[in-house]
Amino acid sequence: MKSVKSNEWKTYTQAVQEGKYDLYVGNLFGKYDNVRTYWEDQLTRIVLRPFLKNLTENKRSQEQGVRIVDLGCGAGQGYDILTKIDYRDLDLGLQHKRVLPYEDISLFLGLDISQAMVEKGKSLFGEQAKVQFQEADLSQGLGEIKNTESAFDLYFSSYGSLSHLARKDLVTLLEDVCHHGNNGSLVVMDLIGRYSIEWPDFWHAQSEEEKVREYNMGYLYSESVRKTTDIESFPLRFWTGEEVRELAQEITTKTGVKLEVVKLVDRSILVGRHTDTRSFNPQLKPTRRLINCLHEDYMRTNLDELILDASIFPEHRFITPLLKDLIKSWNILIEFTQHRLTHNFSLPDVTGWDEFPKPLQFALMTIDRVIADVGWMWYGDPRANIIEPQLGYALRTLEYEMQRGWGCGHGLIVVMKIQKD
Ligand SMILES: C[S@@+](CC[C@H](N)C(=O)[O-])C[C@H]1O[C@@H](n2cnc3c(N)ncnc32)[C@H](O)[C@@H]1O
Repeated sequence: MKSVKSNEWKTYTQAVQEGKYDLYVGNLFGKYDNVRTYWEDQLTRIVLRPFLKNLTENKRSQEQGVRIVDLGCGAGQGYDILTKIDYRDLDLGLQHKRVLPYEDISLFLGLDISQAMVEKGKSLFGEQAKVQFQEADLSQGLGEIKNTESAFDLYFSSYGSLSHLARKDLVTLLEDVCHHGNNGSLVVMDLIGRYSIEWPDFWHAQSEEEKVREYNMGYLYSESVRKTTDIESFPLRFWTGEEVRELAQEITTKTGVKLEVVKLVDRSILVGRHTDTRSFNPQLKPTRRLINCLHEDYMRTNLDELILDASIFPEHRFITPLLKDLIKSWNILIEFTQHRLTHNFSLPDVTGWDEFPKPLQFALMTIDRVIADVGWMWYGDPRANIIEPQLGYALRTLEYEMQRGWGCGHGLIVVMKIQKD
């Protein structure tokens, strides 16, 4: 694997050329696999929903639209994430009611260093006048838009873009954002988590040098392509929740503008991209591929393979206990589903189930009801098409409810607020 400098990367240009950034929903592997679509994009939306609801309602009351800048926008995935946030989860009507529809946006400006990405973004979304894309190198701060654009209501970033920046460059960018933003503007970052099970070797990094590691996007390719191709690697900065809080404090001190961390969420703790490639931790099971299979039509998943072993991880003061608790609940839910599918057995038969952690109880109740309500159906393939996707959502919710925002997921979602008096 060869390492290259940021201005020479081919990964993104090549990925765009190969169609990996075309809009696509669901798959067993690749950029838009089922986990990205049904777990990661949806969880990002759930996390952002209350903040964007507030923001949009405020702007509406002032008869103004929302101004958004997407930092490291790729081919405009952020636009798709933000404009498809539903008001409520449980809504069976024909039309979605969105929190931030196109009509409420006055500008969505995507910035990215890659010309190929900017062109792809324009071709996918550029017909809409309020959606624009520009090339920009964010390692130099906000650049010329500081002078050409008025304040944004949302400084947004999705899926690791800002982990491409060295810490000192992220400091410069956030200083610019704090000076440029309004009182109440939101700043959303999506960083790569250092405490992920994908790379236990990184957990104990101390110096700044050790927190920046070589990374690759081998997951864009099938296993056979990975074996025969020399996949490019590049440096990324891996973050913990605590470091993000320190960073925000440092920006506040430097700028005199309060940057408050209002939410930190670990996303994809057990299903990170590299659980399948095992590039950084060969001991892992290919959990992501199995979850992708749960969400795939007419494909039945061997649930035995989803049982995980918490003892393979090194000892760490607070990560190991969290992983043990989560994996214990995860395994109980899978074993229950397996047993429930093949035996005359239901939740009250499980001894002590009402003393399990609340998120697990809720997940068990959901699966118990789904199987009871669906088991009699004869159209289609109820196990593959209804029960397994519901198990996928139950596992997703379990992970979300038990996460602590420490940097233990593949992604660390950060929501911050600018406060100017
Ligand atoms: C993992 S992709 C994420 C793309 C998109 N935000 C998404 O949600 O899928 C990271 C993006 O960051 C961009 N990027 C990396 N370094 C950058 C820099 N210094 N300035 C601007 N964009 C950068 C890359 O070109 C790439 O499009």
